[in-house]
Amino acid sequence: MKADTELAFKSNPNKDYLRSVYDKALIRAWQQARGARLQYLGLPGPEMLDVIEWQDHLDRFSTIERRENEQHLLFLRAHVRDVEHRLHSLYGEFDKILLTGRDVYGQSPRWPYDIVNLDYFGGFLYQDMARPRALSKLISNQDEYERSFLLIITHDLRDGDFVGEKMSFFDSLGRALTRDYGSEQVVRTFVEAYKDPMTTDAARQAVYVNSFLRDAGEMAHFRVRARPAITYIGTGGTKMIHYTTDFQHDPSQHRAVSEQSLIELLNLGFCELKNGEFHPVAAPTLPELR
Ligand SMILES: C[S@@+](CC[C@H](N)C(=O)[O-])C[C@H]1O[C@@H](n2cnc3c(N)ncnc32)[C@H](O)[C@@H]1O
Repeated sequence: MKADTELAFKSNPNKDYLRSVYDKALIRAWQQARGARLQYLGLPGPEMLDVIEWQDHLDRFSTIERRENEQHLLFLRAHVRDVEHRLHSLYGEFDKILLTGRDVYGQSPRWPYDIVNLDYFGGFLYQDMARPRALSKLISNQDEYERSFLLIITHDLRDGDFVGEKMSFFDSLGRALTRDYGSEQVVRTFVEAYKDPMTTDAARQAVYVNSFLRDAGEMAHFRVRARPAITYIGTGGTKMIHYTTDFQHDPSQHRAVSEQSLIELLNLGFCELKNGEFHPVAAPTLPELR
């Protein structure tokens, strides 16, 4: 969808629950562990519902917005809520800002951040891989400042994202797993199950994004801990998917080694949020290694 034809963001009960209960508990714990209020980078939208909900845990916040009207409303809201002195606002597409390090007016994010909340329209995988590349850049910027952070990503779950070359991700995953796993047959069954049209795109997305974040994080000296992805129905019946991932900086080795094993991560799968309850959804799994 093009920015100028998009409808303004409207919240919904599932989103409200994630923001004010699930994510808020993670942010509170992150602040306690850090012992200081958190630096935020995100896409809060004109109402800044996340910033306002989490404001007791936040210090300053850098906001990204690509629509002029929403940007004006965001300033207004910051003024009304008396938080404008903590606001640093960037204007433009978030992936371009992360990749080039500048917004439309030449302003840069104020690295590093403790919490990054990328809550955007559209999918994760596009042909030009702009979003994965932007995320890799964000992770390497955090590495430069040796700063651990909590990454929250929410986007539309677009059926049919995994076609052609994108599906080949599962073949590469299979090759990497066969090296460690021993049983070629078990890995082949797992990979084939993920490529099977009967497997949901949510299951494929969850494995793809969580593996991608782990890989990019470990390469940039972060021990990564993923959680099960969460799917939910958003405003207007749109299917959404939500990820929360811890990145703990650990420069002690050339490549960080996460406590969570790759098999544990692949077996996290996803759950569906409905009326404030999480329902695990069956997805293909690998047996644990003995
Ligand atoms: C889903 S809303 C944010 C909701 C908010 N985080 C909350 O908790 O309620 C996303 C906002 O980011 C803007 N946005 C969406 N995609 C974007 C992109 N690719 N780059 C910059 N801004 C974007 C939208 O205009 C919208 O105002």
